[in-house]
Amino acid sequence: MSSNAHHLPPHTPAAGAPALPWQRMAAGGGLLDPAGRLRSTVFEEMTALARRSGSVNLGQGFPDFDPPREMVDAAAAALHAGHHQYAPIVGVPALRESVAVHQRTHYGLELDPESEVAVCAGATEAMAAALLSLLQPGDEVVLFEPRYDLYGALVQFAGATAVPVPLLPPAFVPDPDDVHAAFSPRTRAVVLNDPHNPTGTVASREFKELLVELAAEHDAVIVTDDVYEHLRYDGPHEPLAALPGAAERTLSVSSAGKTFSATGWRVGWISGPPELVRGAVAVKTYLSHSAAAPLQHAVAAALAFPSEFYARLLEDYRERRDVLVSGLRAAGLTPPEPQGTFFAVADVSDHYPLAGVDNATDLGRHWAENAGVVGIPVSAFVSPENQGLYSDWLRLAFCKRTDVLRGAMAGLAASV
Ligand SMILES: Cc1ncc(COP(=O)(O)O)c(C=O)c1O
Repeated sequence: MSSNAHHLPPHTPAAGAPALPWQRMAAGGGLLDPAGRLRSTVFEEMTALARRSGSVNLGQGFPDFDPPREMVDAAAAALHAGHHQYAPIVGVPALRESVAVHQRTHYGLELDPESEVAVCAGATEAMAAALLSLLQPGDEVVLFEPRYDLYGALVQFAGATAVPVPLLPPAFVPDPDDVHAAFSPRTRAVVLNDPHNPTGTVASREFKELLVELAAEHDAVIVTDDVYEHLRYDGPHEPLAALPGAAERTLSVSSAGKTFSATGWRVGWISGPPELVRGAVAVKTYLSHSAAAPLQHAVAAALAFPSEFYARLLEDYRERRDVLVSGLRAAGLTPPEPQGTFFAVADVSDHYPLAGVDNATDLGRHWAENAGVVGIPVSAFVSPENQGLYSDWLRLAFCKRTDVLRGAMAGLAASV
């Protein structure tokens, strides 16, 4: 990986002085090199490689197709209807009501839209509001890895400590002993992303029950990241918040970005018990204040789409998944079939001899130059102590048109 592409000065704090808040945040997200300088990430490197080599970029997790027409029409209608000024901090009533109805319809969860739902600028702000409302220096947060970089960034910004628990390949399930050992009297929160980016796995009921049990025992808050809730291939999503004993200590985060192929709209939400939602709302007041007013109205309409919409979404994604997975298999790999999300991971070590490399990061570079396809090494989602567990795994996104995925897989097949 090229280092320090930003050419910024080191900003290393004087010995003994606390790191600046932005440095803690950047370090927690994996953006700093050992000398405390911002470095280019493997995401940036692979995106640049894809551009230079003309490869299909399956590194980036956003769709290359449009959101549902009805939702775009609803956004246009909301603009023409004059929704141009600040939305309420907690979100427009129509969207809070729609989130509550969605949670009841899909999961049987009863929420008061007045006090138990708040709209945020994407799941990113919702997660920031949740964690920053809870964490203090000295607190510990249990994080499963590989993990989305946001969680570590927020935990370190708050001055808390991330306690990583590896999801063990190839099934990417944690050892229950590791989960038990990660909880301590200092545990303030545990974050669960289900379905899971980057591995495409779904948390088992036993795993979720164990988290509820341990969180109750240690009086910790559970924060769940459900952004892939509607991309679950082997049965309906079962949110952790719906488990017995969970609702009273769980903040659930989701967003319109993945479900409605609109990652740039920045509309998300958080739900849970009133006292926890209240804290998150106090924080988000001073982050975004409020998410884009007209888009909130459009997402309110979209969340109420009939079940046919969700069935069709899944059918389309299942086809994309199958194109990618069968393409990887045709190239001699044995990826586990993703149970959720729009990501697949594969142990790519069988390709090392042909490529003359010995790790997935270098194989990713080799594929970009020689196979016309770009993925992200799973080690990019892992803290330094657990890197070795994942050094043979690459993540590929299948939120792309099937013709694009077919082209990428044809290039890969031709290169082996
Ligand atoms: C697990 C996970 N959580 C949160 C997000 C961010 O969601 P949003 O775009 O709604 O902020 C992403 C985006 O890739 C994600 O993969």
